Amino acid sequence: MSDKLFIFDTTLRDGEQSPGASMTREEKVRIARNLEKMGVDVIEAGFPIASVGDFEAVQAVANTIKESTICGLARALDKDIDRAGEALKGANSGRIHTFIATSPIHMERKLRMSPEQVVEQAVRAVKRARQFTDDVEFSAEDAGRSELDFLCRIFEAVIAAGATTLNVPDTVGYNLPQQFGETIRLLREKMTNADKAVFSVHCHNDLGLAVANSLTAVLNGARQVECTINGLGERAGNASLEEVVMAVKTRRDLFSCNVDHIDTTQIVPASRLVSGITGFAVQPNKAIVGANAFAHESGIHQDGVLKHRETYEIMRAEDVGWSANRMVMGKHSGRNAFKTRMQELGIEFDAEESLNEAFGRFKELADKKHEIYDEDLQSLASEATAEQMVNERYKLVSLKVCSETGETPEACITLAIDGEEHKLCAQGSGPVDATFKAIESLARSGTELQLYSVNNITSGTDSQGEVTVRLEKAGRIVNGQGADTDIVIASAKAYLNGINKVLIPEARLKPQGADV
Ligand code: KIV
Ligand code: ZN
Repeated sequence: MSDKLFIFDTTLRDGEQSPGASMTREEKVRIARNLEKMGVDVIEAGFPIASVGDFEAVQAVANTIKESTICGLARALDKDIDRAGEALKGANSGRIHTFIATSPIHMERKLRMSPEQVVEQAVRAVKRARQFTDDVEFSAEDAGRSELDFLCRIFEAVIAAGATTLNVPDTVGYNLPQQFGETIRLLREKMTNADKAVFSVHCHNDLGLAVANSLTAVLNGARQVECTINGLGERAGNASLEEVVMAVKTRRDLFSCNVDHIDTTQIVPASRLVSGITGFAVQPNKAIVGANAFAHESGIHQDGVLKHRETYEIMRAEDVGWSANRMVMGKHSGRNAFKTRMQELGIEFDAEESLNEAFGRFKELADKKHEIYDEDLQSLASEATAEQMVNERYKLVSLKVCSETGETPEACITLAIDGEEHKLCAQGSGPVDATFKAIESLARSGTELQLYSVNNITSGTDSQGEVTVRLEKAGRIVNGQGADTDIVIASAKAYLNGINKVLIPEARLKPQGADV
């Protein structure tokens, strides 16, 4: 059995299924570049049949990334598989990941198919996928609630049809570690051709056990873990890549496989990039990538760490990419230096015009803030792509806010709406509230604010504030983001970004939501 644990990242597919986390093609390529740099084995870039946008994103990632295998998801349907095959044409190494549900409840209630029909369809799908690539993964959706004998049967059949990876998803996050580990062990023991494929696991975090379940599966012979940066994903999310990788690395004494090919110093940059792009902030106490993950508050701990670091630290912060913010640029940095640093961060400009525009923004920022860090550059790029992605019906022209002790805060905003300027003043319980009220009175978006959060991008009071708003309209949820050294302006930008996004029609299939 291989001593390498394959890391399959599905941030761009399952991660994107979190409400409000949709990413543009350019954002996906940027994250994929980071994952490639990290040494991730497989990048699941999307579900090509879901929409034209998904198809083009998978295609763009496949055409750009050379070191990692690029994977496209497909239901066990000819049209899905053909679309995935088409999207992956330009890949150096492409994988089709096809799936069908195998639990009694899914087969009876969702698919309305007999187990025989399900096996037949799975086999047909794998054979069709093999016409496009030799690298075919088959997933038994809801394997966590499927019968073991049926799993053995369908897995044996798809291996015979050409599947090279067998994925065991705990789709609804129902399993407990010991039970899930047993499933993997028994499958490997009972199946007649188990040695002909790599066993993979894909755990959801509904009970907070996704990482524990994945690791127990690895201890029982799984050799691929499907995971996401920051544990992003449908509902409570997927197993977090950083936790899986660091657990296997830190407890190498317990695992018979390793993740030595992963450059763990890329973890924190990847986490920042994903949270910046999706607007899903990382909780401060999140393992590995939370702001407090390596902060020792208590005197006893601090004393111990100062005397001998390993008294309280099991990992080194720098090994996962927590280095002091690097000042990379400043007011006097030129256009070439800017372009080069952006390229190093995986940010490419498709046209001279967009480079000039981004450089203009950089100069504006450098005037307000003397030290520009990588995180600032990432945020600048996210803001630019967020604006490109939406056809910006509402644009911020200017904002004046008065806030004084004992007085009601007031915001006067000028917006360009479809190119025409409109001005309005509104009062609110605070400067942000007044600003949002002024915007809403002008824009009349009819959205409901579900979440408002501010994070500082770097440290220090001159840091940019990055604001995320989550807006809901008629059941559709979008995240809007904005960054500025002035958090009220950042809030206005985020709100406008959100309402601009709400206006874009979204016609997208969700894999688990769609009937086969
Ligand atoms: O959770 C799940 O079952 C999935 C499959 C498509 C692998 O995401
Ligand atoms: Zn999933």
